Amino acid sequence: MKTNPTIESSASGQAYPHPRRVTESQSEMTELVLPNDTNLLGNLLGGRLMHFIDLVAAMAAFRHARANVVTASMEHIDFIAPVHVGDLVILKASVNRAFRTSMEIGVKAWVENAIAGTLQHVSSAYLTFVAMDTHGRRLPVPPLVLESEEQRRRFEDAGRRRNNREHDRERKRLREAAEAEQK
Ligand SMILES: CC(C)(COP(=O)(O)OP(=O)(O)OC[C@H]1O[C@@H](n2cnc3c(N)ncnc32)[C@H](O)[C@@H]1OP(=O)(O)O)[C@@H](O)C(=O)NCCC(=O)NCCS
Repeated sequence: MKTNPTIESSASGQAYPHPRRVTESQSEMTELVLPNDTNLLGNLLGGRLMHFIDLVAAMAAFRHARANVVTASMEHIDFIAPVHVGDLVILKASVNRAFRTSMEIGVKAWVENAIAGTLQHVSSAYLTFVAMDTHGRRLPVPPLVLESEEQRRRFEDAGRRRNNREHDRERKRLREAAEAEQK
């Protein structure tokens, strides 16, 4: 019988995935900005850029987990410079940290003006994806193998962002509970 080579069994019989390197799932995407993607000034719509960011991040998460993934969150995002019709948008995504069933993916986007030969950073974002089986059950994701100082720094930063997110969620939960009591 053929088995999934990415899954092994632990001593307790529980399946766990093999660790994977950051480079194994790094993903890149290039998009040409067409008139349909822009506002009345001919600038790329923010929502369209967010769509590209979501897609390239999903590719990295999918490659790392080797399972279906869903977007759980997209963190604060800045649009640093406008992107014009006819520009090329280059997006790169990599897994910053794998938790239990979720992963943080970092995305950086640049705009290339092929005629002027310029490349400019336009946006960065952090997204969290959760791995799932076809029945919607969460799946454990492979641990991340860190191979450089840069990867270790991103890993630590991702842990801090997760702590902040959990702190914010807890504060929101407490506030909502207090509001419900007052009603
Ligand atoms: C994302 C989703 C699976 C989380 O469901 P949940 O019941 O909160 O799941 P759990 O509490 O079991 O958490 C699962 C993991 O997701 C993480 N998570 C949950 N909500 C999160 C959020 N808002 N941001 C970041 N991570 C989140 C948890 O920390 C946990 O991580 P871990 O297993 O690595 O420790 C669920 O909210 C969902 O299905 N959302 C819709 C996803 C979707 O359709 N996305 C497309 C955009 S519309």
